[in-house]
Amino acid sequence: MKMFSLFILSVSLLLIQTVNATDSSKTGQQLYKDNCASCHGTSGGMDMSKRVAPPIIAVRMHYIRTYADKDSFVMAVADWVEKQDADNSLMRGAIRRFNIMPPISISRADAEKIAAYIYDGDVEKPEGFQQHFEERHGKNKKY
Ligand code: HEC
Repeated sequence: MKMFSLFILSVSLLLIQTVNATDSSKTGQQLYKDNCASCHGTSGGMDMSKRVAPPIIAVRMHYIRTYADKDSFVMAVADWVEKQDADNSLMRGAIRRFNIMPPISISRADAEKIAAYIYDGDVEKPEGFQQHFEERHGKNKKY
């Protein structure tokens, strides 16, 4: 009986490992597409009344202002994905407009991969974003 339990335990551990391995074989970009793009993608463009969440490039801009280096950026975004706490929000206007982001079921490791992708990011931008940005910040400023 004891041997059998051990056997079951090993099989379960192996399964857990396999599941995790499958997850982490995806790139940050793929994970972003699977878990975030439905709300933060380009659909709805820059017309906020047609969107359900701010475009990811806008999220990136807000976070990079406070968390300029990659490590703290990744930490902050992954913390948010793990737990949405209005007290830690950097986008209070977005919470007022869209309501707070619902919880996302995703591992910490995957959230960090996504965050790194957003930081490095050649992330998607809704049509009209470039113009919207230049009107407010000028042509030469980076986002
Ligand atoms: C079901 C829609 C939805 C999905 C899916 C979603 N988000 Fe959000 N997210 C929102 C909304 C709405 C806001 C704006 C309100 C807010 O800040 O809570 C937001 C805001 C954010 C913010 C800024 C939070 C703040 O207020 O400082 C970050 C960071 C963020 N999302 C990251 C992600 C990441 C990374 C993913 C994918 C793992 C993701 N979101 C998936 C809806 C979503």
